[in-house]
Amino acid sequence: MIERYLNNIIQGDCLELLKTMPDNSVDVAFADPPFNLKKSYNSYTDLLKLQEYLDWCEHWITEMVRIAKPTGSIFVHNIPKWLTFYTASLNKIADFKHWISWDAPTAPMGKTLQPSHYGILFYAKDVKQLKFYEIRYPHKRTRKEGLLAKDYGGKKKLLHPFGPLISDVWTDIHRVKHNKYRDKHPCQLPIHLLERIILMASDEGDIILDPFSGTGTTALAAKRLGRNFIGFELDDKYIEITQNKLLQENFRSKLGRCWVSFYLDKLVTLRDKDWDDLKEFYHIPSQIETVDLMPIVLKSDIGISTSHKKCDHNREEAIQEELPLSKRQKDEK
Ligand SMILES: C[S@@+](CC[C@H](N)C(=O)[O-])C[C@H]1O[C@@H](n2cnc3c(N)ncnc32)[C@H](O)[C@@H]1O
Repeated sequence: MIERYLNNIIQGDCLELLKTMPDNSVDVAFADPPFNLKKSYNSYTDLLKLQEYLDWCEHWITEMVRIAKPTGSIFVHNIPKWLTFYTASLNKIADFKHWISWDAPTAPMGKTLQPSHYGILFYAKDVKQLKFYEIRYPHKRTRKEGLLAKDYGGKKKLLHPFGPLISDVWTDIHRVKHNKYRDKHPCQLPIHLLERIILMASDEGDIILDPFSGTGTTALAAKRLGRNFIGFELDDKYIEITQNKLLQENFRSKLGRCWVSFYLDKLVTLRDKDWDDLKEFYHIPSQIETVDLMPIVLKSDIGISTSHKKCDHNREEAIQEELPLSKRQKDEK
């Protein structure tokens, strides 16, 4: 039954389409709905009356929980204002796991605190059965010197060579800003955001559903990570853009046996449990404290950068800091 949906972007109203799906059938349900902020979509008018918007959201949220497997997770991305309403619905039918704050500054609006984060609600269908993997990301560093931004004091010997476990505040992924890197869509998400979520909550071959597919960021991330995707989208033009991107996409985001997330030639998200396998691909200093001065680098003979860059037709600048390369790294390259 679920097979007919797999690896398809289906045109139509997501609420109608969700109703046709079987219970307990997807591993991750991720939604990035219209924010009701009058965004200029190609065909959708992003302006419902308050109660109309909230009632509509409650319907698709309920469907997403119904469709998630008992081990599955539900993620909803939106501005904090709407998430406060969503939690009221979700708390009745699913288990709260996290409110992830994605640091993404927007333009000043006047007479208000400047909105500087989006929220991503993370719920489990059943927290006791939830599939969940701890994630690591690269150490944050100072822009000029490339030193660790955080002072680990006397604990530097205990540093993880790659980077810390991710918290519920994500500061290292940028929104897609420049028009030349964007699809013709007002709200395209960076692919690395979706890759991180997918790595955190699913395994190879699992099913990732996005009822508001847009130009297919979730589908593309799922494909790169060896997962199945299902996307729903109202607009034909966005579906056409997605299909073209999917056709061209042949990068498998893997290092050795492990699925990971790259930005160009840097690894930006990995699963903690995979580190034992992944560390062989890095030059790791014998004195771990030197990680304070420079990041560990991938061995040059693994051939990632070319294959990945070639396939990286999204070209979004998703990572906040392009770190200065130390002299030693430059020499190694
Ligand atoms: C915020 S955007 C999603 C962007 C997407 N995450 C991406 O990275 O491309 C919301 C999308 O939902 C679509 N949409 C709006 N109402 C819908 C509905 N009832 N069913 C399916 N799609 C809908 C819009 O056309 C728009 O592309």
